[in-house]
Amino acid sequence: MAVDREWWQEAVVYQIYAQSFNDSDGDGVGDLPGITAKVDYLDELGVDVVWLTPVYDSPLADNGYDIRDYRSIHGDYGTMEDWERLRDALHARDLRLVMDLVVNHTSDEHEWFERSRRREGKYEDYYYWREEPPNDWESLWGDSAWTYDEERGEYYLHLFDVKQPDLNWRNPDVRADIYEMMRWWLEKGIDGFRMDVINLVGKPDPIPEDPDGPRWGGDHFATHETAHEFIREMDDEVLSEYDVMTVGETPRVSVDDARKFTTEDGLDMVFQFEHMHVDQHPEDPWARTEFDLREFKRIMSRWQTGLGQGWNSVYLGNHDQPRTVSRFGDDGEYRTESAKALATFLLTLGGTPFLYQGDEIGMTNVPFDTLDEHRDVWTHDEIEAALDTGRIDSFDEIADQVNYWSRDNARSPMQWTAAENAGFTAGEPWIKVNPNFPEINVAAARGDRDSVLYYYRDLIAVRAEHDAIIYGDYSQIAAENDDVFAYTRTLDGERVLVVIDFVGRAGRFALPDGVEREGLELLVANYGIADPDPTEIDLRPWEARVYHDE
Ligand code: NOJ
Repeated sequence: MAVDREWWQEAVVYQIYAQSFNDSDGDGVGDLPGITAKVDYLDELGVDVVWLTPVYDSPLADNGYDIRDYRSIHGDYGTMEDWERLRDALHARDLRLVMDLVVNHTSDEHEWFERSRRREGKYEDYYYWREEPPNDWESLWGDSAWTYDEERGEYYLHLFDVKQPDLNWRNPDVRADIYEMMRWWLEKGIDGFRMDVINLVGKPDPIPEDPDGPRWGGDHFATHETAHEFIREMDDEVLSEYDVMTVGETPRVSVDDARKFTTEDGLDMVFQFEHMHVDQHPEDPWARTEFDLREFKRIMSRWQTGLGQGWNSVYLGNHDQPRTVSRFGDDGEYRTESAKALATFLLTLGGTPFLYQGDEIGMTNVPFDTLDEHRDVWTHDEIEAALDTGRIDSFDEIADQVNYWSRDNARSPMQWTAAENAGFTAGEPWIKVNPNFPEINVAAARGDRDSVLYYYRDLIAVRAEHDAIIYGDYSQIAAENDDVFAYTRTLDGERVLVVIDFVGRAGRFALPDGVEREGLELLVANYGIADPDPTEIDLRPWEARVYHDE
């Protein structure tokens, strides 16, 4: 099979949550010079692209996903010159830089919103204003999605925080302003966009009344047909002129819609969420349901095979999710083995892998002691709403669940060394450092050839050398097995076989009949292997093996 190669299909993306990566000036907040100082580290790891979460000017109500000025850098992170230095340092090592594009909403302190609330000229209809809330939609975080603005004397829609008003994409002036801003960044030499909740930009007209139905407003229309139209237009007007990578964050997206986005509308890939919901209660955001591997396998396999000519993204964690090893692995006894097993999975599936900072050393969830230690607006808004409505009487009732799901688990500072504050800052960190940093840190991982970090490096290098891992057809094997996730990737006679104990208790795994075992050689494994024959394997907890033949 001849493959159409694109650089972003062969890339491994590393996500940097700027405020938690590395602080260069001792103010306790990670910054751009701090990232520049670690470019060699990224290069050594072997990743190809950095996705930088928002560093734009912002009141930081939602840690920067509330943008006040799209064309300037927040002082906490540095200056535009610092950003340019980071861009150049990355490019000098052939690493690319993808920026976060947050255009479903702005900050309520953005000039557009200020002018809109004053009904100034073309800005009057830049947002969704209504005399009365047309429905009882809630924001994602539990309060009403409609808030009254004194100055304008009307309610505005916000699917997220009260400080994140939704832009009215039906207004062509809004779209033109956004496209111009995108061009401005592209001309500054960026290599793509990660597009925040981009399937929410298309909203039904009129906004429906929906007396019943899901509580979150976004659930009533996510991936409305106009989302496809607007994204296609964005591609025609802007993106098609540049060789860049685009990944749309698309909550609730179906395989069919994802195929459309990636084959007809111009997006390179999307982030789907189905595998993130597998252990999440559909109605209670803090409840955790039991992880069902078979269901997980069904979901992942559907996405592996359902996109036609479209391309996948693969991720297990990011700044909105618990730590990968705490959620899908075992962050106790088998932390190292399970983190490596998950790495094997992330890097051998079809699609561009997105590795979240700290996962490459197996960072874990944080033991938060009090609500005060949480920084995330989502956590605080949700708890407030739950207290207000009497759903809970005190935070303590759900502390364990909140501590598990909190987005702050992933936002806790990157653990570089065993020195104070994990070497993240010389000052007071803005958020709690995980107390396990003396054992889990980059310096320790560098000194240990068996560390998770080395495993990532090895696997990233192996991935780059095997087209079958990047472009091969995916086929699941042993679908009915409750403990093992196993699949092949095949391209032009090259075959890769992946076998992973995904629950830490697999025991014996027999390769099903029909899977050719001749010629298979071991390529990578997370345990030392005495007997590489894949026919019958006595899998140790979280054991992962990758074989290939050509
Ligand atoms: C998704 C982002 O990843 C998340 O961090 C943010 O809170 C929401 N979108 C709103 O922008």
